[in-house]
Amino acid sequence: MSKNSLRLGVNIDHVATVRNARGGAYPDPIRAAKLAEEAGADGITAHLREDRRHITDADIDGLMEALSVPLNFEMAATDEMQKIALRHKPHAVCIVPEKREERTTEGGLEVAREENRLAHFIAPLRDAGCRVSIFIAADQKQIEAAHRIGAEVIELHTGAYCDHHAEGNFAARDRELDALQDMATFAHSLGLEVHAGHGLTYETVAPVAAFPEVMELNIGHFLIGEAIFRGLTPAVQEMRRLMDEARLGDST
Ligand code: PXP
Repeated sequence: MSKNSLRLGVNIDHVATVRNARGGAYPDPIRAAKLAEEAGADGITAHLREDRRHITDADIDGLMEALSVPLNFEMAATDEMQKIALRHKPHAVCIVPEKREERTTEGGLEVAREENRLAHFIAPLRDAGCRVSIFIAADQKQIEAAHRIGAEVIELHTGAYCDHHAEGNFAARDRELDALQDMATFAHSLGLEVHAGHGLTYETVAPVAAFPEVMELNIGHFLIGEAIFRGLTPAVQEMRRLMDEARLGDST
């Protein structure tokens, strides 16, 4: 893999959402993860939420056993989740804010407000060999705090950028995109590895994929939705193609 290559992490949470709608075993998120892997995903992302609304503990067991690519384990900064992560020691842990009443992860983590607690929280995860990432908004104060607590990676929240695009508010979208680019550059200058994700689609992925500092995109909901229409393998392959094209500066 070249130094400039951009990794695609496929988030399979919403395969579990569909499965859980009927309470049975179908569709199986592990089967989806293996297909995504074969289609060109460089990693699989799964969020074990406190309320287990989609991914379950058994799914994490299964993913750890079945995957050939790294698992990026998304979790809230709670004692329960820390124990689970330390038991599995996944390749990567991404710390996200979590509120039970939200439909999805609505904002970035407030690192600056909880710096001490989070520094102590991530230390054992790092000691266990997990690459710790913090999911944050494009906000310099939060990035500085993430750096101070010893995170190796930040994942920039692209949700606002994607929402503005979907609403046709292109001025706000472009302002958010500029902020994302500036903060990717800033985080990189501190020595942090930069990832991005949330809400990305075929229409919105190219400008973010083109940021030279961004090393990984994590994409889920859109890909699982698109899989209904074209199948998961072509859906992932098309995202991969758009990312690679944007990265090469050939997205016109
Ligand atoms: N990155 C993080 C940290 C997330 O919490 C999520 C959503 O679980 C994603 C990426 C993927 O977002 P989406 O499912 O909207 O593509």
